[in-house]
Amino acid sequence: MEPNLILTGFMATGKTTVAKLIAAKLGWEAIDLDELIESEAGCPVSEIFEKFGEKHFRELESRALVSALTRINMVLATGGGVLVREENRKLLERIFVVNLSAPWEEILKRISRDGDTRPLAGEGEERLKEIFLNRKVLYDSIARQVDTAGIAPEEVADRIVLMYEEEK
Ligand code: S3P
Repeated sequence: MEPNLILTGFMATGKTTVAKLIAAKLGWEAIDLDELIESEAGCPVSEIFEKFGEKHFRELESRALVSALTRINMVLATGGGVLVREENRKLLERIFVVNLSAPWEEILKRISRDGDTRPLAGEGEERLKEIFLNRKVLYDSIARQVDTAGIAPEEVADRIVLMYEEEK
């Protein structure tokens, strides 16, 4: 197995925070896919959505994923929509992927608390819930799952490191 660890999950499930914690434990590099996209595009994700639309963002996201996966000893926090494209799902098939989940109420609370910087969060609660429900099957399709409800990010990271150590 490639020495890489990938986190998927809906927005606000803690992917970026947990990726950093896991990376520190393993002595690996933490990479955030949105940050890679932003540094390659030279502008924030919100601006990419605003100026070029979601379809273009998905193109950049797939490209950034391919480029990220050339690295090793990396904990990659993906964006919540990365599983939407089949080509991305295919790329992740041979890698150690863990999906982080949380109940809808918890996600909504966290997104509101974050101050809605995410473009899709700006589409309103109803639309956001629809996206969440539509994607559920994709998140559920990931074999390794951690439900983050009521668990500190540190504990989530410990569980994932343990899963990785047991399987590698
Ligand atoms: C998205 C999630 C965001 C970001 C973009 C689209 C999505 O990442 O990639 O706003 O489609 O779910 P986070 O999951 O890190 O918020």
